[in-house]
Order: sequence, then C-alpha cells, then structure tokens
Amino acid sequence: MKLAVIRERREAEKRVAATPETVKKLKGLGFDVTVETDAGALASIPDSAFADAGATIAPDLKTAVADADLILSVQGLEAADAKLAKKGAAQLAVLNPFQELDRVKAYADAGLVAFAMEFVPRITRAQSMDVLSSQSNLAGYKAVLDATAEYGRAFPMMMTAAGTVPPAKVMVMGAGVAGLQAIATAKRLGAIVSATDVRPAAKEQVQSLGGKFVMVEDEETKAAETAGGYAKEMSDAYKAKQAALIAETLAKQDIAICTALIPGRKAPVLITEDMVKSMRPGSVIVDLAVESGGNCTLSKPGEVVEAYGVKIVGHKNVPSRLAADSSALYARNLVHFITPNVKEGALAFDFEDQIVAETVVTKDGAIVNARLKEAQ
Ligand code: NAI
Repeated sequence: MKLAVIRERREAEKRVAATPETVKKLKGLGFDVTVETDAGALASIPDSAFADAGATIAPDLKTAVADADLILSVQGLEAADAKLAKKGAAQLAVLNPFQELDRVKAYADAGLVAFAMEFVPRITRAQSMDVLSSQSNLAGYKAVLDATAEYGRAFPMMMTAAGTVPPAKVMVMGAGVAGLQAIATAKRLGAIVSATDVRPAAKEQVQSLGGKFVMVEDEETKAAETAGGYAKEMSDAYKAKQAALIAETLAKQDIAICTALIPGRKAPVLITEDMVKSMRPGSVIVDLAVESGGNCTLSKPGEVVEAYGVKIVGHKNVPSRLAADSSALYARNLVHFITPNVKEGALAFDFEDQIVAETVVTKDGAIVNARLKEAQ
C-alpha cells in the first residue's frame, strides 16, 4: 500500500496534508509513505522531519504519485496532473467540486476514486473527520487577531494612571463553528461581544460563551435550520427585519466579524454600505465569507480596503494563515477518515458506509455524487 502526500500548488496555500505525527500513524496502518519535496515547507515542516518520521522524499509530483494507491493533499491534484496518478488510485482533498466541476470530470476520466472531504456528513461518528469544523475553528480565531492588527485601539478595558481605555465592542455575524470561536477569542481579549444568527439553537451557545445574542425571532426562524445543522436562505421579509436590527446594533460596534454562510449558495449580505457608513471611524470589519461573495458588500477578496474610515479585511484562505496548526488538524482528520477503511493491511473503502458514500465524488470512470451529476 503506497501513499503520497503532495506539495500544494495553489496561490496562498501554505497547508500540507500530513505531519510527522500522521506519517507515523499512516505507516502504522501499513502504508509506505512518500512526501513530495517541500510539501511542508510553508507549514514549518522541513523534509527532514518527514524523513525522520519514516517517509521517503520524492523530488517531484510525478515521482511522488506514480505508483501511489492513495494521494493526500489539501486542495487536490490539478486537472492537468490527474493523469499522473495510476488508474484506480484514491485521492482525499477539499475539492470545491461545485465550483470546479471540470476538474472533477478530469478525475473521473483518469479513473481516480476522488473524495471531497468537505462532503463528510455532520454526524457524531464523523466529527473527528470534519475538515470544515477543524479549519473554521482556526479561521474564527485568526479573524479576531486580524481585527486586532488593523484596529488602532485596544480590546480590553484598561484602567491606568492616565485614564481608562474602554473595551472594544465586537459583533459576530453567524454563530457557527468559526463564529463561536471568534466569540470565545474576542472574550478572552476582554471585548464586549454580541452575536447574531438565524438558527435559534445558536442562542444558548453564544450565551454560554458570555456573548449577547441579538436576533430577529419569528415563525420563520423555527425552520431556519436544516437537518444537517446548516442555515437556510431566509425570505425577503425576514432579511428586511434582520437588516434593521443589524443596522441599529452595528452603529454601536467597533469590530464586526462576519462568518455567515449558506451551503451551496452565495453568502448572505448582512452589512451594506450604509451600515459601514454608520460605524465610527477606526472600526474594523473582517469578512470571512469574502470568498463566497461576502457578508459585507464592500469587502474585496484578498484585500484590506478602507471605506468611510472603516477598514474591511478580506483575506482569502484564512486557515492557511495558521498553516502549522491547520495542517496538523487537517492531517488528523484524514487519518481518522482513512483508518476504518484499511482492512488487514489493505485499502478497502466501504462504499456502503454513509461517510464514504456521501464523500466519494468519482469512481469507475464516472462522477458518482448525485448532486454533482445533476450539476453537470
Ligand atoms: P456555516 O459555515 O455554513 O455558517 C456559519 C453560520 O452562519 C451558521 O451558524 C449559520 O446559521 C449562519 N448564518 C447563515 N445565514 C445567516 C444569516 N442570514 N444571518 C446570520 N447568520 C447566518 O456553518 P458551520 O459553522 O459550518 O456549522 C453550522 C452548525 O452545524 C453548527 O453550529 C452545528 O450546529 C452544526 N455542526 C454539527 C457538527 C456535527 O454534529 N458533527 C459539526 C459542525 C457543525
């Protein structure tokens, strides 16, 4: 059983899909592990650390994947490289399949068994494999630190001989995995924190972290959560009520951390230009949803822009900004996914299993995921 860990090729991607710790675990499962040279360089893991853990270092992609049965990466093989892998090889990565359908087709044509790790179902048994949670958690933390870096004031209240520095007021939009970590981080820094969401279940979680929950509660919010725990898109009438509440609350805030997403759709617009205008100069908005269209209409992917004296931070791929930790958690997620599918020293994916069945996107030369087949 041969396993390859490849170097990421995409811009601003510093993560790597294995660490010396997971290489040892994978070897324990019976894999011969090959790591492409410099795969961990941007996550502070030199080739020598992988070699010390028992991996072979390959000089290039072609050599790394040539006879691999399983290929690990963060963002997946590029379409043009799919043919470098042997027919029937499995691949685990975050594939962004709806936006990159042509690449998925290239995997099918190359005979790869490709798994989109973002499709791992959110069931208790799969929690340790949930890459969206492990990466969003770190993104929520980093978003608050990015806000502190742009904010020209302090977060905690400070009582000094020269007078009192008031605490920052932070509002978190969307109290899912990233939002809850943002609340906890801002609280630890001494800010006064409030948060909003459309799922009533978020209320208790926000309050348990010491945040104030601000939400338009009506008949519609009773059904705002899908069976999978995600939010639905709200009606125009709800959006108008929510906008009025956010406008009123935001004008009194110093920092907004935006994390609201709706799976498979554009992120909801929560902060309009008028709302930005109403914030006091020096305020900061960090838009973690920027790559899905943004929660703030003025945010720009990959940029920090200033409008009406407010800084709007739109960093892309925020988990990659904490590459060592995000790689470590992602690499463990992969090991948890692989482990139950190795039987008697051989890789044998159980396609009847819910987790495997919902995650596999190509197999036997075809796209096999129902939603992707529809999107073709
Ligand atoms: P997400 O990244 O899709 O969305 C982030 C947050 O934005 C969500 O809380 C969502 O309700 C909120 N949101 C969407 N539209 C909004 C709007 N118009 N206004 C305000 N907020 C809006 O979701 P995430 O963070 O990946 O997870 C959401 C929930 O999924 C969790 O809180 C949890 O209940 C569940 N979950 C379950 C897991 C498990 O059981 N294994 C693992 C992880 C999450």
